[in-house]
Amino acid sequence: MEWSGWQVEWSVARADVEAARGNGPIAEATIVFASPEDMKGTGVWVHPALDGALRDLFRRGSFGANAGETAMLPSLGLLPEAYVIAAGRGAASFGIRELRLAAGAVGKALAGLKAESATWVIPAALTADAFDGTVPEAASAVAEGLLLASYRRDSRSAEGRKLPSPKLFFDLENGESADAWSRGFERGVKTADAVCYARELTNLPGNRLTPATLAEEAESLAERFGLECRIYDEIEAAAEGMGGLLAVGQGSVNPPRMIVLRHKGAPNSTETIGLIGKGVTFDTGGISLKKPEGMEEMISDMGGAAAVLGVMRAVAERKLAVNVTAVIPAAENMPSGNAFKPGDVIRMYSGQTVEVLNTDAEGRLVLADGLTTAIRAGATRLIDIATLTGAVMVALGDVTTGAVTNDDTWLSQLDLASRRAGEYLWQLPAHPEYRKALRSDVADLKNMGSKWGGAIFGGLFVGAFAEDRPWIHLDIGGTAWMWSDRDLEPAGGTGVMVRTLIEYLESEALAGA
Ligand code: BES
Ligand code: MN
Ligand code: ZN
Repeated sequence: MEWSGWQVEWSVARADVEAARGNGPIAEATIVFASPEDMKGTGVWVHPALDGALRDLFRRGSFGANAGETAMLPSLGLLPEAYVIAAGRGAASFGIRELRLAAGAVGKALAGLKAESATWVIPAALTADAFDGTVPEAASAVAEGLLLASYRRDSRSAEGRKLPSPKLFFDLENGESADAWSRGFERGVKTADAVCYARELTNLPGNRLTPATLAEEAESLAERFGLECRIYDEIEAAAEGMGGLLAVGQGSVNPPRMIVLRHKGAPNSTETIGLIGKGVTFDTGGISLKKPEGMEEMISDMGGAAAVLGVMRAVAERKLAVNVTAVIPAAENMPSGNAFKPGDVIRMYSGQTVEVLNTDAEGRLVLADGLTTAIRAGATRLIDIATLTGAVMVALGDVTTGAVTNDDTWLSQLDLASRRAGEYLWQLPAHPEYRKALRSDVADLKNMGSKWGGAIFGGLFVGAFAEDRPWIHLDIGGTAWMWSDRDLEPAGGTGVMVRTLIEYLESEALAGA
């Protein structure tokens, strides 16, 4: 897949802003933040006539100046830029989260105008100590919001995507913050790039993305960004004894792959974080076939794998000082004369045996072998991320990712990272009573628990392969895919948890340094 990423150009230099506003090339739009107070006030703000027009929109209730709202006016020759975009910033509670949302609305407005250049006035309050994040955090949020909201799913072209490539001139009221703003903005562009790369992979239909092509994608990512890469094909996987991966993949003409990528950014550290992403390129349910309605969503059953690749892209590109081993068990779950069946007993890579009760509970089987692969490759802590259950959606909807862990303290660190990143995590209970439901009479485990609480059983099944290492399970079954647009998430794959994991690995890199 050809994914060039966002080609954003920006400047924080006063002279560039002035050139853009007059002498040199004229930017097409100017962006200003607006609060309800600004709208109620009388001071001159953009231009007396345009201020009046905006305030009139506010009085009529068609522009409330809340975060996520924009108003657009043609400037009719009153300003060097042809359009003014007023981006709401709400009242008192404006912080990083709202800023990201506001920037998202700006991204949509710019895309609607097909504007490729803009000046953007950044008020001193957003770069002041009193703001709820640092200057780089604010700038990163602006880049993330702008780009994440502008992304659209489009499978028409086979030769990669032409993404809008805006040119931005930031007009910082606090000129001293320029360097920090630029640094943060760059971080945000790279983060958005990683998220959108994950989205792009998730959005590939099953006929264009098979386990083998996913492995090729990982290989080319490794080559481009300098990661170590090892792919196990179905023959090598069989020689290793990866029984879970092979069972799930055996029904398909597209054979499975175990993909391993490594980033060694902290050679002196003894810690290696294993990131294991579910890579089911299409999940029909297998012999326990799914119902047809909505089955097309199951192209996103490799959303965990996509997130892991997105994170590795950012980690490698930015050379973060952490050791990360990424493992992607990739398989296609199909019904066929070769498919695995309910009642089958399989021997996993770890040596444990599993009684298969439902072939649609396939994710936990491939992930279990993924955890064992990560452990044998030297991972000391494990995070798995997977579209594992529909049950997590029953519990948390499509807003919040469910987490299961054997290490509450570690999860609270990841939770902090998710808050900074603007994503939502919620821990599910994992009391010992739940574990009993996974016992089988004929094997070490069965691949399904009792009727209620499915997200917990799915998680605990995977955790049974963590071999007492600290482990966190992220069930993105509700959050990896949107059926319609929402704020920063266009319909389709969301790339959820990429931002959280990057944020977490950054904090680890800082702590180790
Ligand atoms: N990939 C699905 C889970 C899923 C379903 C994610 C819908 C997002 C939307 C997973 O492989 C699955 O089928 N899980 C089963 C488990 C059950 C058979 C124990 C489920 O959730 O129904
Ligand atoms: Mn399934
Ligand atoms: Zn699945």
